[in-house]
Amino acid sequence: MASYVVNGGRRLLGQVGIGGCKNAVLPILAATVATGRRSVIHNCPDISDTHVSIEILRHLGCDVVYDGAVMLVDASGTGERVLPEKYVQMMRSSVLFAGAVLGRFGRFETAFPGGCMLGARPIDLHLKAFELMGARFDGDENTISASAKKLEGRRISLDFPSVGATQNIILAAVNAHGRTLINNAAKEPEIADLQGFLRAAGARVHGAGSTTIVIEGGEKLHDVEYKIMPDRIVASTYLVAGAITRGHVRLNNVNVGDIMPVMNSLTQAGATLYTEGPSVILRMDDRPCAIPKITTAPHPNFPTDVQPQFTALLATAKGDSVIEEKLFEARDAHIDELVKMGANIKNIKGNRFEISGVEELQAADVVAKDLRGGAALILAALAAKGQSSIDGADYVKRGYEAIDKDLQALGADIEFA
Ligand code: EPZ
Repeated sequence: MASYVVNGGRRLLGQVGIGGCKNAVLPILAATVATGRRSVIHNCPDISDTHVSIEILRHLGCDVVYDGAVMLVDASGTGERVLPEKYVQMMRSSVLFAGAVLGRFGRFETAFPGGCMLGARPIDLHLKAFELMGARFDGDENTISASAKKLEGRRISLDFPSVGATQNIILAAVNAHGRTLINNAAKEPEIADLQGFLRAAGARVHGAGSTTIVIEGGEKLHDVEYKIMPDRIVASTYLVAGAITRGHVRLNNVNVGDIMPVMNSLTQAGATLYTEGPSVILRMDDRPCAIPKITTAPHPNFPTDVQPQFTALLATAKGDSVIEEKLFEARDAHIDELVKMGANIKNIKGNRFEISGVEELQAADVVAKDLRGGAALILAALAAKGQSSIDGADYVKRGYEAIDKDLQALGADIEFA
């Protein structure tokens, strides 16, 4: 697999713009199938997950044109109801097409999404909701095969505010008969972006960002033009890059409200942050301060997708910190690699990290095993004097359009090899 080569030990200085959000564009591309119309989508990040989604859209019968930023989707010709296993294995979030296809066509079949390095990642909440809406399942232990004459709107209380389940229910409900009400809905900003897209297409969806979302199904949807929100996890990653290198960076095109939890923790770690409209500026002059405990939790708490990056930061802090990973039972593949770089971290059962900060990390050859863990290793390499290599670059490219170019714009010596 390709790798990044970093010559670390340099302070990041400068500014960079933030692109479109991976975790918003994926459900919105699934929503184009739910509308069955033409969509023009701006600020689509040129990442591998976007390209997998394009393959899925075409497999489902859509016409798709994409220039690396703007995507045109014509979903009027969709028909295929079966999603081959290869897509599900390539990208777990392909399961988001289930709700859109089932709601529109009354039938959907695919393979069960495999777990990944983060843990089991079941989809029981998605399937339970579809069943409540009238879907019948006739697959086996490896296949999801769902059918419904017409989905019925229902009151659905989620046992857990799952982001994917909330999105899948919305995608099914827009074409269901009657009203659907989701209790204990996820409040992540990407849900509000999905609502924004669907409302622009004429759907009646309300409440995203709160725990209760209401969808009035059966509205006639129309062509839509929409701009994807900025990626709050990419922005958070680059702020941590500025902090770990004791730099001074400015990020432009940011939804500041989306990254408040991370900005609060960076302030606790000793960074100086301020905002100017859609820009956020971070300055860090010394070693970070330790933070007694950070616990990941659903929005608006500290995001699990920034846990690996923050673990790398606190590995260089003055004193002891604890990070508890509560969302995924195995989001710890970066820990052993950070230890190879001299970090002093005790990994308690895969989701509690007891970190004793060290003065400096050491350059090393390390291996990324998932998207955000890979980003964390790049940040650690930026802080470590000398040359490091981070193998497994393909994982990072799933969620970062051009992390090497962005960091180069901030003065980093990083090459994609
Ligand atoms: C989304 O995943 C994001 N992915 C993840 O980002 C993110 O970490 C996660 O939300 C939490 O914010 C996309 O949006 C494509 P969940 P998702 O359903 O929808 C359990 C990244 O790095 N669960 O909120 O899969 C599940 O096992 C990725 O960009 C069930 O038990 O997250 C997990 O422990 C990683 N049953 C927890 O809920 C279900 O039916 C959170 O999952 C569904 C989920």
